Amino acid sequence: MLILGIETSCDETAASLVSANDKNIKVLSNIVSSQTKLHAEWGGVVPNLAAREHVKNIKTVLDLAFKKSKTKPKDVDLITVTNGPGLIPALLVGTNAARTLSYVWQKPLLGIHHIEGHIYANFISNKISVNHKSKILNPNSDTKFPILCLVVSGGHTQLIYMKSHLNYKIVGETLDDAAGEAFDKVARILGLGYPGGPAIAAEAANFEIRNSKFETSLPRPLINSKDLNFSFSGLKTAVLYKTKEFRKLPVTDYRSLVTVLAHEFQQAVVDVLVLKTIKAAKELKPKTIMIAGGVAANKELRKQLGKAVKKELSITDYQLPITDYSIDNAAMIAAAGYFRWMNMDSAQKKKGLNNWKTLEADANLKLK
Ligand code: KG4
Ligand code: ZN
Repeated sequence: MLILGIETSCDETAASLVSANDKNIKVLSNIVSSQTKLHAEWGGVVPNLAAREHVKNIKTVLDLAFKKSKTKPKDVDLITVTNGPGLIPALLVGTNAARTLSYVWQKPLLGIHHIEGHIYANFISNKISVNHKSKILNPNSDTKFPILCLVVSGGHTQLIYMKSHLNYKIVGETLDDAAGEAFDKVARILGLGYPGGPAIAAEAANFEIRNSKFETSLPRPLINSKDLNFSFSGLKTAVLYKTKEFRKLPVTDYRSLVTVLAHEFQQAVVDVLVLKTIKAAKELKPKTIMIAGGVAANKELRKQLGKAVKKELSITDYQLPITDYSIDNAAMIAAAGYFRWMNMDSAQKKKGLNNWKTLEADANLKLK
């Protein structure tokens, strides 16, 4: 079936056409118009500015998605849209566009939870899904349940256990800042700009090159706690104090200190995320480990978690989305929509045609 995905929950206007069946989820087009440059001036996303940009861009993004996929609206079987959580002025643009298209085209409509989308990015067919025997997996048909998914985005840090499709149990979460939020705040402290994740990762990659004589160590919050929760706000404060300390040093090479701090901060976050994921896996014994969300684009996290899974959980598969589907996009929304749709009976599917009347954007939508 052909599924249109629409995503406008934060600062990306995205549309995608996905062709899905019980074997494959193939992305035909994945158009993302990012507003990061616009928001960088304010050091974070300004909700009303985001909404104004979504309104400006949504039609072009949709047109491009159809053009690139070589499909037509009449071919669409299902429209899916992120209806929460996120910034309400931003969500309203996507949900209202989707409701209008559903009414005009007479196509069923489904609202999708943004995090469900991130998780289901793991089910898009791509070459990097391999199991512990290095066999390339077709995620849609080969994935083994139960799954343990580490969700790490700008707003969420959670360990989610899935016994089966669309069945979520949150077994650990952050007590304060999300991992992505910590990257963004620390990047601001270090003067590295917005969005902080890619900026810190790029700066940390200079660590070896600079070969700095400065050394520093940051805490690994809750790393030894008995539960599966996270906390990143103290780590951010620790960076703030270190920066103040460093500023007092009689050094001219302040940039080198920034590199050392960026590297150590990234490693502290990765250490905690990897350790807690492995701890959860030892307790819950999933057959597959997945990662999801914008921070899942982080190369060190991808690599180090992969190594740890191989070393500590030898028979567990490790699956992850390609970077384009880790950060916000609409293909993941369409992919999640496919599984929601397949889980519905014919009466529910029929009701999908009337969803344009009632679909609501909800800034605090819960994952169920
Ligand atoms: O999932 P996402 O695109 O949007 C939300 O749902 O929040 O995640 C955005 C977050 C931002 O905090 C951004 O700094 C972080 O993901 N991020 C990264 C990287 N790329 C994006 N964090 C670490 N390393 C990256 N390479
Ligand atoms: Zn996201």
